[in-house]
Amino acid sequence: MKSSRQKDRTVLSRLITYIRPHWHLILLSTICGVIKLTLPLLLPQILKYFTDDVLVSSRSTSEKLDIIFQCMVFLLVLYTVVHIPVSFLRQAGCTEVSNRIMHRMRCEVYSHLQKMSAAFHQNHKSGDLVTRINNDVEQVHPFIWNVATNIWIDAIVLLVYISLMWTIHIPLTLLACIALPLSVLLTTKIRSHIRKESHQVQKNISTISGYMQERMAGYATVKLFHLEQYEAEKFNGHSHTIYRYTRNTNRYYSLGEAVTVSLSEIISAIIVCLSAYYIVKGQMSVGDLIVFYSYLGYFITPLRRFAELNVTYAKSIAGIERVFEMLDTLPDIEEVPNAIVLSPSLPMNISFRQVSFRYEKESGTDTLHNINFDIREGETVALVGSSGCGKTTLVHLLTRFYDVDEGAVLIGGNDLRTISLPSLYEQTGMVFQDTVLFSGTIEENIRYGKLDATMDEIISAAKASNAYSFIRNLPDGFSTLLGERGIGLSGGQKQRIAIARVFLRNPRLLILDEATSALDSESEELVQEALENLMSHRTSIVIAHRLSTILNADQIIVMDQGRIVETGKHNELLELGGRYAELYHMQFRDVLKK
Ligand SMILES: Nc1ncnc2c1ncn2[C@@H]1O[C@H](COP(=O)(O)OP(=O)(O)O)[C@@H](O)[C@H]1O
Ligand SMILES: [Mg+2]
Repeated sequence: MKSSRQKDRTVLSRLITYIRPHWHLILLSTICGVIKLTLPLLLPQILKYFTDDVLVSSRSTSEKLDIIFQCMVFLLVLYTVVHIPVSFLRQAGCTEVSNRIMHRMRCEVYSHLQKMSAAFHQNHKSGDLVTRINNDVEQVHPFIWNVATNIWIDAIVLLVYISLMWTIHIPLTLLACIALPLSVLLTTKIRSHIRKESHQVQKNISTISGYMQERMAGYATVKLFHLEQYEAEKFNGHSHTIYRYTRNTNRYYSLGEAVTVSLSEIISAIIVCLSAYYIVKGQMSVGDLIVFYSYLGYFITPLRRFAELNVTYAKSIAGIERVFEMLDTLPDIEEVPNAIVLSPSLPMNISFRQVSFRYEKESGTDTLHNINFDIREGETVALVGSSGCGKTTLVHLLTRFYDVDEGAVLIGGNDLRTISLPSLYEQTGMVFQDTVLFSGTIEENIRYGKLDATMDEIISAAKASNAYSFIRNLPDGFSTLLGERGIGLSGGQKQRIAIARVFLRNPRLLILDEATSALDSESEELVQEALENLMSHRTSIVIAHRLSTILNADQIIVMDQGRIVETGKHNELLELGGRYAELYHMQFRDVLKK
């Protein structure tokens, strides 16, 4: 285990590789920051000049007014010509750097997440991932602002202030300087609390985002079971946890602030009284007191930021660490180097050889056990078995959403694990039970099947999938918006769009996982017809509850509790009088009578 300090250092050195390309902007912003903070130094100097050399001097009134006027013009010019552009560049330069880095990180995390396996996405709530992309990446900004630039600005400015104060009065300067170590010392414990509590805030914000996303998606269940009150209370609990940690963070912050500010006030008070003593003793002028006291006022801001640096650093590093953690999670399904590209001429023969698979690797109970079968190019195979017997899992092994634990899946004689994933997906089309359409137009949704498809291709895909007539009747046709900003479609309509997508892709291998089972019988007819169009001349694996599909299959594979128990054609299996016959009598007898 790495210590947290070592971990911080690794995160830091990695973050520096992101910052390095923008060093010129960081430098510009820092220089401007130094100028911006040292400009106010002039004012006390001018005040001292007025007090000691102009106002009480023996010059004539008009001479005095002349000097005052010149000083005023000088200051006005200085502030408009220097202060405005310098303040602008300090802020804009720094923000530009953090925006560029955040943009880069967001894109890196998003594209990395796309590479992760089905197992990863099943184990992570989408809301949590979204929070990582958004909130954690935001932590770059305070880092760039405070740690990468302010630290240098404050160090230089403090040195300038201290050396100027030193020229006025050494003992008073030393007294002012002890404020920094003293406040750091007094707030050490407080800062470690802030670090811990704010880490909890971040963590709980992730949790609540995941929770909200899930419940919003499942609003129908909440409504139908009348769980609004129950849900509201559960949410209240999550939110209260965040409130509690934020409240604690806030209390520690306020306490730290109170200690630091009061300390500097106490030291200022002592300095004022001591200055009066030194004036009485003739060791200081009134002008000196004014200058010294003004410097002291400016001195406090960078001083306080220095004292708080530890907290800001810890907080931003914790957020950025979570981003890197995500980037470092290796995809558990990866291509081997020089993976075989599935050429369109390679026969689409599929074999499962002694395949076993389990979701819980430690538990030892197989979800699929010793699966063996062969499918020849162009065949239609029906997978049959009661719910939970492992049909979906089996086809997910074929699409490499998961890897087998024992045995091998072969396509055209090649182990699936040696085949290039894009070439596998290029030739595979899948229609699930619950199709997700993305928000966007119908055309865009169909186009996912082939990004460079022409409009004619899209129309013929829609026709082949029985979707054309309903799309044409929509007010905006193919440009109709779906999803959050647009209209909703019925289950059957969604399925037909999903099928159009697959038509457009024109895959050689087709997998249908209960594609019609959530539909009413009228939409089922239309979808079934579309599916039959789609299946012709393709190697197809169909998980079906429809008798006609099963009757037409070249081979029926009957599964029970993760094993293949029977294979054959309908009549053979029926004669056998085993599991298939049992399933058949349970499910289809009534259908046949109709
Ligand atoms: N992501 C998962 N994690 C753990 N167990 C799972 C997961 N998906 C499915 N299972 C379990 O694996 C078994 C087979 O599920 P599945 O392949 O979906 O069955 P079917 O499609 O035949 O209804 C079931 O017992 C199910 O609970
Ligand atoms: Mg299933």
